[in-house]
Amino acid sequence: MQNNKITLIQPDDWHLHLRSGAALKAVAKFSAAQMGRGIIMPNLNPPVLSAADAQAYQAEILAALPADSTFEPLMVLYLTDQTTPKTIADAAQSVTAAKLYPAGATTNSASGVSNISNIYPALEMMQKLAVPLLVHGEVTRPEVDIFDREAVFIDEILSKVTADFPDLKIVFEHITTKNAVDFVLAASAKIAATITPQHLLKNRNDMLAGGIKPHNYCLPVLKRLSHQQALIQAATSGNPKFFLGTDSAPHSKNDKESACGCAGVFSAPYAIELYAQAFFDAGELDKLEDFASKFGADFYGLKQNSQRITLQKQDWKVATEFAFAGGVIVPFMAGQTLSWQLV
Ligand code: NCD
Ligand code: ZN
Repeated sequence: MQNNKITLIQPDDWHLHLRSGAALKAVAKFSAAQMGRGIIMPNLNPPVLSAADAQAYQAEILAALPADSTFEPLMVLYLTDQTTPKTIADAAQSVTAAKLYPAGATTNSASGVSNISNIYPALEMMQKLAVPLLVHGEVTRPEVDIFDREAVFIDEILSKVTADFPDLKIVFEHITTKNAVDFVLAASAKIAATITPQHLLKNRNDMLAGGIKPHNYCLPVLKRLSHQQALIQAATSGNPKFFLGTDSAPHSKNDKESACGCAGVFSAPYAIELYAQAFFDAGELDKLEDFASKFGADFYGLKQNSQRITLQKQDWKVATEFAFAGGVIVPFMAGQTLSWQLV
């Protein structure tokens, strides 16, 4: 690394929402321009419930990519109360992982799991066939405060699942708290976590102080500064349990700027620049490549990418909006200045 340039193995996005139809066509190119692979979240409406659904969705994504793209979409099965061991066995060759959305936890999670015991037979089969479990780690009981839902999920659900399935690989997705960092650190090598750019760069003041900022609203919701600091420390620590997953989740400007705004932050067009900013601000830019380009592939047992990307130190301004499925989409940190730019 020179002072004003850094070259990395091409990164992968281990948590990405690409949607379908016109939305997919609008956003797929952005991830393809940065990332080698993406773990494609299955929360479509209707969701990706079977091997056939995953194959059809993968074909739709490949058709939406630029002609010269080498981006590889890695598919994920959406777990429901009805997912059987046979569903898992049938899908094991078509998907890279299966995702647990507690019912009602987030966007398009209505068909999610209502009680973890309902998927125990499926989890047994995933453990046997080495299909990783991806977890949206929040309880959904209305009486639990939204800022506590991740910590309560760890205590009530995740600690039990990790104990009951010691050989199951689990990715605790988009972690937002020191509680989650501490849980992952104390857990076995089978347990890892993704961290988003918004949770590294922002805290709940950036969403709520001085006026409500709907474009900083995502789930799990931004937490207080001390949690943000714990996430920065984890991401830049060089510990292979923590790796890149943007959770880039496009919603139209109208759907975000509403009396009941959608959860989701859109970061795909400059995801690596956002992570570079967070690592640079922490004085740990030399740790970025491990986090962005090595640890995720290693955890999934996949080869690291052979291509390289280069970032150069140069101030530039994020666009204020992008065209999106008949409307516009406002990206994360719209109009703000970042210090590193992809060459
Ligand atoms: C995601 C979406 O919009 O699909 N939203 C979000 O706030 N992160 C769903 C999710 O990952 O929770
Ligand atoms: Zn997500």
